[in-house]
Amino acid sequence: MPVMDISSYAEDFNANPYPYYAKLRESGPVHRIRDAGTESVWLVVGHQEARQALAHPALSKNWQISGLFDRTEVAAVNSNMLESDPPRHTRLRGLVAREFTARRVAALRPRVHEVTEGLLDAMAADGARRADLVGALAFPLPMTVICELLGVPDLDRASFRAWSNEVVAPTGAEPEAQALTAMGGYLTELIADKRRAPGEDLLSALIRTQDEDGDRLTPDELVGMAFLLLVAGHETTVNLIANGVRALLAHPGQLAALRADPGLLDGAVEEMLRYDGPVESATFRFAREDVELGGTVIPAGQPVMISLAAADRDPARFAAPDTFDIRRAPQGHLAFGHGIHFCIGAPLARMEGRIAVGALLERFPDLAADPDAGPPEWIPGTLIRGVKRLPVTW
Ligand code: HEM
Repeated sequence: MPVMDISSYAEDFNANPYPYYAKLRESGPVHRIRDAGTESVWLVVGHQEARQALAHPALSKNWQISGLFDRTEVAAVNSNMLESDPPRHTRLRGLVAREFTARRVAALRPRVHEVTEGLLDAMAADGARRADLVGALAFPLPMTVICELLGVPDLDRASFRAWSNEVVAPTGAEPEAQALTAMGGYLTELIADKRRAPGEDLLSALIRTQDEDGDRLTPDELVGMAFLLLVAGHETTVNLIANGVRALLAHPGQLAALRADPGLLDGAVEEMLRYDGPVESATFRFAREDVELGGTVIPAGQPVMISLAAADRDPARFAAPDTFDIRRAPQGHLAFGHGIHFCIGAPLARMEGRIAVGALLERFPDLAADPDAGPPEWIPGTLIRGVKRLPVTW
């Protein structure tokens, strides 16, 4: 199969990758692509094939299979369940799932409302009646919630955000490694502090937790778990809120329908996840053996990127996929992944998204995109989809 060079798509691709994915999909569900200066990777763009790939037992999370990535220097932060295969994955997920329960999430609901209202109060107090919605709501809400859930209210958010942004959208191999090392060191100290002064929070529970066999998280695994929960807990939900509100503001008919019938909110949030979800592609998998996918054989050792964004715009799965329609039933979208790595935070993310969007529309009946804002600045890379700022007026 020929290798498709996508480097020429450049900025245009970042701003709107969907037409490119559609073009690729027209000629098949699985492609071999190369970006500027990178090794070639396999890209899955069909919905059915993406679902199959996400749950494929021969597509491993073990990057050592490919020999393309050397991440030994950041072993601790990578000791996490999203970077592991069974049986290690089963063990890590089992240890946290015991603590990360639906009941713990439901108990957070009043607090999520309270934090949201506090942020909206601060926003409303601005006499100029304009704000950056990312800075005012979409970022601080999930960040506050995940910090409180883990029990790290004093997290140095500015540093953490900078490292985290670098990790999910690296500007280069060296800055990425530096950010991972800095984050690993910071989290190690944080866990040591928590060990000295435990509380009723999730991180204390994870330090204490032990399964029936007396198994518990090693120090590296604790760092990896804290890293994953803090990064996954806020880099994603911020873009659910921002991409979702952006879609509503760009589709006045849909916005009016939602304002007229708040009962549409849950479905609207699902459609936001399908139409322009926060995670553009799943994390890399590596073929443990030759893997056949959609009629194409991916040879053993090769890296595979699964485009959730492309899969969720596949016309074979969703009618008129490029239409943002809050009344459609977008069940089966892949915004939270699929299979054993299906997002453990999905109930929390959905709750935060619904509360944030619902409260925002209620408080700001005249909310609109700021007409004086320049073109949006996109988060680089193909992992996270979103804008850095969302200027609004009311
Ligand atoms: C709208 C918000 C969110 C989206 C779209 C999202 C999306 C995803 C996706 C696509 C995956 C699978 C990645 C893969 O297979 O490569 C995943 C896994 C994961 N997510 Fe989320 N996520 C969100 C929010 C959260 C939150 C709030 C948390 C934690 C508090 C969280 C924690 C995790 C964890 C721990 C995993 C790894 C699960 C495993 O490997 O078994 N996520 N998420």
